[in-house]
Order: sequence, then C-alpha cells, then structure tokens
Amino acid sequence: MRVMVIGSGGREHALAWKIAQSPLVEALFVAPGNGGTDAMAQNVAVDITDHGAVAAAAKAHAIDFVVVGPDAQVVAGLGDDLRAAGIICFCPSKQAGQLEGSKSFTKALCDEFDIPTAAYGRFEDEASALAYLYTQGAPIVVKADGLAAGKGVTVAMSVEEAEEAIIDCFSGAFGASGAAVVIEEFMEGEEVSLFVLTDGEAILPLTTAQDHKRAFDGDQGPNTGGMGAYSPAPVLTSDAYDAAMARIIEPTVRGMAKRGTPYAGVLYAGLMLTEDGPKLVEYNARFGDPETQVMMMRMESDIVPLLQAVATGTLAGRKVAWKDAYALTVIMATKGYPGEYGKGSQIRDTDGLDSDTLTVFHAGTKRDGERLIANGGRVLNVTALGASVKEAQKRAYAGVDAIDWPEGFCRRDIGWREVSRQKN
Ligand code: AMP
Ligand code: GLY
Repeated sequence: MRVMVIGSGGREHALAWKIAQSPLVEALFVAPGNGGTDAMAQNVAVDITDHGAVAAAAKAHAIDFVVVGPDAQVVAGLGDDLRAAGIICFCPSKQAGQLEGSKSFTKALCDEFDIPTAAYGRFEDEASALAYLYTQGAPIVVKADGLAAGKGVTVAMSVEEAEEAIIDCFSGAFGASGAAVVIEEFMEGEEVSLFVLTDGEAILPLTTAQDHKRAFDGDQGPNTGGMGAYSPAPVLTSDAYDAAMARIIEPTVRGMAKRGTPYAGVLYAGLMLTEDGPKLVEYNARFGDPETQVMMMRMESDIVPLLQAVATGTLAGRKVAWKDAYALTVIMATKGYPGEYGKGSQIRDTDGLDSDTLTVFHAGTKRDGERLIANGGRVLNVTALGASVKEAQKRAYAGVDAIDWPEGFCRRDIGWREVSRQKN
C-alpha cells in the first residue's frame, strides 16, 4: 500500500514513523513534511490548503490511503474533497469537523444530548456579551467561537480581564474566528485528554494523555500548542474513564450519527476532572500534537489497519494493544515561541540519538544539505519510554541535553503532576 500523511508537525512525523513500521506499507509520503520526515519518507512539496493540489499529488504518487493530521485541514473539509476525488482517507467530514471548528456547535450538541460541560452563553455583539459577563462574574472563560490556533481562549480570573478579552475578540484579534464569543462557566479541576477512534458507529478507545499548554515551568507564561505530554495519564481513574465514555464519548458519537453527520476519525476529548465527575472542555477532530508523539511510542499494534477501518466503516471488533510503559515527550522550541521568534538557526547532534526507548520527532525543522535548520516555533519533540513517568522523563531530558541548539528552549518539568504522584 502507498500512504500519504498530510501535515508538517511533530504529530505527522510520529504518525509517519509509526505507519512506516507497518508491513502493509510499501511507500510512504508526507506532504509537505519536515526535516524529520525527509529522512524516513518522501516529502512532497504541495500547498495543503489547496485541496485540488493535494488530490493531484495523491494521484501522481498513486496513493492508496491518505492520513490527514492538522485541524485546519480537517475543518476546511480536505477529507470531503479527497473522497470526492475518489481517494480513501482518514479525515472526518467537514460537517463532523465542526466538533473542533465551532465551539457553539459542540455546546449545542452537549445541550441536545445531555453531555456534561460548562454552562455557557454565545454572543454576536460586544454589548450583550458584556451584559452576560456582569450577570456571571469571575472567574469565567471567554472563547472566540472559531479556530484560533489554541489562542482564542482566556481564562479570566477577574471581570476586568474578561471584559478585555471580549473587547479584543470583537475588535478583530482573532479575525473571523472572533465574530462570536462563547462565555463559559469556569470549571475547577485537573485536565486530561482521552482519545478514541470511531467510524461513526463503532468506538475503539485508544488511550489517555496529559498535555502541558503553558510555555514555562510551573505552568507559567502564555498558552502554546503544547510544550510536552505523557501517556497514559492515570489521573483518569477507571471510574472516571467509564463515566467519560458513557456520558461524553458515546452520546457524542451516537448524537452525531443521529443528526446525520456521523463522525469518523480520531475523537480527542479534552476533559476536566471536576468534583462532579468528568466534563467536556473541548473536542478536537484530529490527533493531538504532542500527544500523538507519546501515543505512537506506546502503540504496539499496527496502526494502518485501524486507520483504514475508520475510513471504511469497518472498525467493529478491532482491538489495539499498547506497550506496558509510559511515554513522555519534551518540546524543544525556538526562543521567543509562542511570540515572535527567528528561523534558520542550526541544530546539531540530533542524529544517532534514537534507540528502543528514545525517538526525536521533528516539527519545525528542515534539511539544508547536511545541516538541520530550525524552521518554526515548536521544533523537536524528544520522546522517551520508561517503566514510570519519572524514568521516561529522565530519558527524555538526557536526549534533550545531548542536543546542541543554543537558540532553543524547553520546559524542565514535563510530567510533574504524575511524577509527584508516582513513587518511583
Ligand atoms: P480550549 O481551547 O477550549 O481547550 O481551551 C483552552 C484551555 O483553556 C483548556 O485546555 C483549559 O485549560 C482552559 N479552559 C477552557 N475552558 C475552560 C473552562 N470552562 N473552565 C476552566 N478552564 C477552561
Ligand atoms: N496538544 C494540544 C492539541 O493538540 O490541541
């Protein structure tokens, strides 16, 4: 089989790395890919926002199966356009992708199917948003309604902070994504992510992970796309897992099917573990980045038949096996990220680090002859396996410390919540 992965991040390198291990795969392409995928697959230079160009590239390379990584492509309906061109692909439909693309779509689904989530209001003008805020007080959460690269959310501890976020949104800070705001009840608790595959009917639970969204140690600094993650996340106990499946995931999959817009893909639920049980914070309609990096390190099964079963509606009865180990990934980012940062610095000593327990996935990198160049905000994902989170953490940081890249930085405390809970 000839497979093409769409995207250029660490998530796509990890997916490609795992897909490449499948005996079913004879040729692997990544569009557009990065400096890491360049070394293990064939990068295809194509503008992935141009769906016609992606379909043409897939045909030119005689691709049998396309796996779409990024949220923007899911939400823009790349899956629908590829299917219309006769190409089998792992990517939810555009309508189903609204689970990620529109906060108010998901909120309405939660209302309709009684899925536990924060109480909310949705507003299309500043005056009514502010009026609602004054009835609710703080802490409170203000969200741009559409996709905003993880940056459209303000967890406001004071009414003043919430006012500022509302005014920013309506003054165009998030473009069209800020044309409406969702204002939510603040939920108190620890966050955890739960991933399942579904073909629209059958559900195959994958695993859990915990992300670190803030830029700096101690969960300080601005929100980012994610500075590190580990998996599994035992903070989701088996009771809470059962509750999340029964009250959140299953009603969502059934509800989407009932509405005539079945969701087929990976469903990534961001959960808040509150005193009243797990509640939905958000859905993503694609794999997590960097959660995929830790999930792929742990997955024992061949991923290709699972992704194909999702795409072809044949998931029922499938199983997935995991290594009996923790995986942890540390993101090395260019100094300045998530704000302004430079491109073009050289990274040394990454090659040759990979072993049975360590893999350096690339995100914003490119090759310039022999040289490896930083080409983005999040640049490397140093990912390790261990018998405990602490052991995986130790191995990941040993990998980080072997890399020579003065222009990069990372958090030094990835996994801290679980490390403080686990004894060894
Ligand atoms: P979202 O893009 O909706 O995932 O929001 C980004 C982050 O903001 C989440 O991962 C949470 O840390 C936080 N957040 C979002 N909604 C809430 C809420 N209702 N209560 C508390 N924290 C929230
Ligand atoms: N790590 C957060 C995300 O993929 O959305």
